[in-house]
Amino acid sequence: AQHTITVLRGDGIGPEIMDAALFVLDTMDLGLQYEYADAGLAALEKVGELLPAATMDSIRKNRIALKSPLTTPVGEGFSSINVELRKRFDLYANVRPAKSFPNTKSRFPSGVDLITVRENTEGAYIGEGQMLSEDGETAVLTQKVTRRGSERIARYAFELARRTGRKKVTVVHKANILKSTSGLFLKTARAVAAEYPDIQCNEMIVDNCCMQLVMKPEQFDIIVTTNLFGDIISDLCAGLVGGLGLAPGANIGTDAAIFEAVHGSAPDIAGKGVANPCALLLAAAQMLDHLGMIDKAEKLRAAIIATLEAKDSLTPDLGGEGNTMSFAKAIAKRV
Ligand code: NAI
Ligand code: MG
Repeated sequence: AQHTITVLRGDGIGPEIMDAALFVLDTMDLGLQYEYADAGLAALEKVGELLPAATMDSIRKNRIALKSPLTTPVGEGFSSINVELRKRFDLYANVRPAKSFPNTKSRFPSGVDLITVRENTEGAYIGEGQMLSEDGETAVLTQKVTRRGSERIARYAFELARRTGRKKVTVVHKANILKSTSGLFLKTARAVAAEYPDIQCNEMIVDNCCMQLVMKPEQFDIIVTTNLFGDIISDLCAGLVGGLGLAPGANIGTDAAIFEAVHGSAPDIAGKGVANPCALLLAAAQMLDHLGMIDKAEKLRAAIIATLEAKDSLTPDLGGEGNTMSFAKAIAKRV
C-alpha cells in the first residue's frame, strides 16, 4: 500500500536527523511518499507563523506525520508548538517505549522493556486555570481530569497490551492525595481493567513508582498515567535505557498521529552533523507499526540494535566516533 506522510524537518538538529532517518527508510522499500511541511522556527522565518495552516492541512489530510524537534521561541509570547499540535489534533495518547539497548552508557543494558502510555491532553497541562495573584505571592493551577479522557487512555493501554502480547498494565496515580483528579483517573482505569481479565493490572502510587523504576525496572510492562506524571516518568525511563538519543514517542489521536523523538532541537550540537538519529528512527518504527507494517518496523529496530551491538559508526553521545549520516548508513546496510 502507498502511504503519504507529512514530514516536518524541524529546527536545530531536526533537518540533520530527518535526512538521516529518511535515508534509512528509503532503503526499506516501504512505499512511503513524503509531503514536506514547515513548523517551528523554520516556519516563522519563512511565512511568519509557527504553525502555518498549510501544515495543519497536510497533517489533517495525511493523518500521519513524522516530526523532528521544533524550537519554540522563549519569552516572545509563543506557546509550545508541541502542546498546540497535541491539542489541535486531540492526540490523546503519548506512547513512549523504553527498551534496553546494547552498548549505551545505560545502567540497564538489558532487562528493561516497558511502554509509558501518558494521557496527553488534560491533567495539569490544560493551559487554562493558571493564576498568579497580582502581588506575585500566590499561584494557583487547575487540573482537569475527565472520565472520558481517563477511559480512553486506559483503554488505549489495555488494547496496546493485547495487541502487542504484553501481560501487565500498571496504573500510576496519586489518588491518596489528589483525591478528585487522580481519584477519578484511578476509578475509571479500574473499571476499564475489569473488561480485560486476560491482562494483569496493578496500581502504584507515583512516588513509589519512581523508586521502583530506578531499583527494579524489569517489573514493568505497560504504565498508564495522567499527563504530568507521564511526562516525568517517561523521561526517567528514557534515562534508564541510554538517554534522549534513543527515546522515541508517538502522539496518537483518533484522526491523526504524530511520531517524534522525545528530545529537542539540541542547539548546542546543531549544524555539526553529530546528532544521534536513533530516536527519530525508533519513532519511525512506531509509525510503521501504526501503519500496519509490523514486520518492517521490527526489521528497522533489529537493524538499530545490530548496529549498536557492532559499535558501528555510533555518534558521540553513545561514546562513538561516527556522525549522524555514517550512523544512519551503518543502520541502513543492516535493514
Ligand atoms: P534537547 O533535548 O534539545 O537537548 C538536551 C541535551 O541532549 C543537549 O545536550 C543535546 O545536545 C542532547 N541531545 C538531544 N538530542 C540529541 C541527539 N539526537 N543526539 C545527541 N545528543 C542529543 O533539550 P533542550 O536543550 O532543553 O531544548 C532545546 C530546544 O528544543 C528548545 O527550544 C525546546 O523548546 C525544544 N524542544 C522541542 C521538543 C520537540 O519538538 N518535541 C521537545 C523538547 C524540547
Ligand atoms: Mg517532557
